[in-house]
Amino acid sequence: MVIVLNLGSQFAHLIARRVRDLGVKAEILPFDVSVNRILALNPAGIILSGGPASVTERGSPRPTSKIFELAIPVLGLCYGHQVMAEMLGGKVKANEKREFGKEIVNLRSRDGIFRGLRDKEIVWFSHGDQVVSLPKGFKRTASTNECPNAGFAHKDKSLYGIQFHPEVSHTIHGTKILSNFLFHICKAKHDWRISSLKNAIIQSLRKQLGREHVLLGVSGGVDSLVAAALLHRTIGNKLHAVFIDTGLLRKNETRDVRDVFRKQRFKNFHIVKAQKTFLQRLEGVSNPERKRKIIGHTFIEVFEGVIKKSLKKHLIRYFAQGTIYPDRIESAEPAKHVSKIKSHHNLTLPEKLGFTIIEPLKDLYKDEVRKIGKSLNLPKKLLWRHPFPGPGLAVRIVGKITSERLSILREADAIYLEELRRGEEYDKIWQAFAVLLPLKTVGVMGDARTYEYMISLRAVDSVDGMTADWHKMPAELLEQISNRIVREVRGVNRVLYDITQKPPATIEYE
Ligand code: XMP
Repeated sequence: MVIVLNLGSQFAHLIARRVRDLGVKAEILPFDVSVNRILALNPAGIILSGGPASVTERGSPRPTSKIFELAIPVLGLCYGHQVMAEMLGGKVKANEKREFGKEIVNLRSRDGIFRGLRDKEIVWFSHGDQVVSLPKGFKRTASTNECPNAGFAHKDKSLYGIQFHPEVSHTIHGTKILSNFLFHICKAKHDWRISSLKNAIIQSLRKQLGREHVLLGVSGGVDSLVAAALLHRTIGNKLHAVFIDTGLLRKNETRDVRDVFRKQRFKNFHIVKAQKTFLQRLEGVSNPERKRKIIGHTFIEVFEGVIKKSLKKHLIRYFAQGTIYPDRIESAEPAKHVSKIKSHHNLTLPEKLGFTIIEPLKDLYKDEVRKIGKSLNLPKKLLWRHPFPGPGLAVRIVGKITSERLSILREADAIYLEELRRGEEYDKIWQAFAVLLPLKTVGVMGDARTYEYMISLRAVDSVDGMTADWHKMPAELLEQISNRIVREVRGVNRVLYDITQKPPATIEYE
């Protein structure tokens, strides 16, 4: 196995995922873990993650320096590369010209972690600092115009650093770099497989649940569906799946979800109509975090109602959620130095209810969840549905939510998705949706002046939602979508297409 020391990165788990994809067990540990704990795991290698801190700041995170003396290979990434350089006697400085995003890097050596790569590679940078002088005993292995020490390696020991991120998909041969580290440097074995993961989850659920009944909140998305199928397979009709209609759902969503669960022969599937409550609570609220909190708390209340009324026949002590890894990492839960981006509403659900929480998918990424779903024979069409956030359309209406804005957005979004499917573009996109921007601009329709809202179309390519690129949509399709929305949706006279990557933008607007 390989240890990933988390120095506060949004990507620490992505690194671990990439390692697992390559067939090697990876475990994430906090950066300040003791050397004894590391040794107890007998790792084949150690990866130092990136992180938002600067080694030039006091108190920025550092692992124990003993890790460089263990004769275990170490690979430092981004901030991890800078920390390694500084701790071993090199120098790090803030660079005036910061490098962010895609860059071309020149590789000076094509052995070690760069084995089999070309002399110029497209890679992805995301840090303002850089290593200005190397520690003794190290050589430079990669550089860019702005960053002469973009990569280094020790002349004799297995210590490597790279300023860029091999774990994100924008680094074209990032997987090759990680694979070189794992198999050529660390001599790790391929022995971690996703197929055994499913059985391990079912076995551990069986052991934990015995004859207990379980309540599961389903959203209609891939995650809760796979969680439901895993639980259904484990405990059958002792699973009570509950779907809350918040009034923040897409067009025809409740109907579609009901059909899916019917087809899957779930006996205990309940739909709770709570549109009015949610809309009342959200009235006049425009702050994104407040919206998310209100929705999270209202969920709790509605669930309490569900438990009291329809489920009082069964003693239910377990509450299951389809939370997946990216839902957790962006809530700043795992590491001390990760900065808070958004609170994902599904995490605020549990504690108050006094339930034991089970999250069968909590360590998995979206593509792993889909693979498990496939092995459970769930229909491909559902597994490849784009993700939909817990707070629903509330985070896709910028500012205040009103019934009028909801219905405008619902219609525009339905047209958008319908055209994407018709144009055979839907399956090429990781996530697509419409957003309502409550800004009015002037237009002309027929011979009359209009003064109406804007719709922004978002479509992103991604592997797991941690980073994303805008989808290069065919212009004719965009035109068709825009024409239909402006023609068919009352209240909209302008359509925009969003071409921002994540980072710096997030996928959702709030
Ligand atoms: P962001 O906007 O953070 O979104 O770039 C990343 C992915 O997460 C989804 N998302 C959520 N999913 N509950 C969820 O279950 C939430 O509160 C939530 N917020 C964002 C988003 O749709 C995208 O796929």
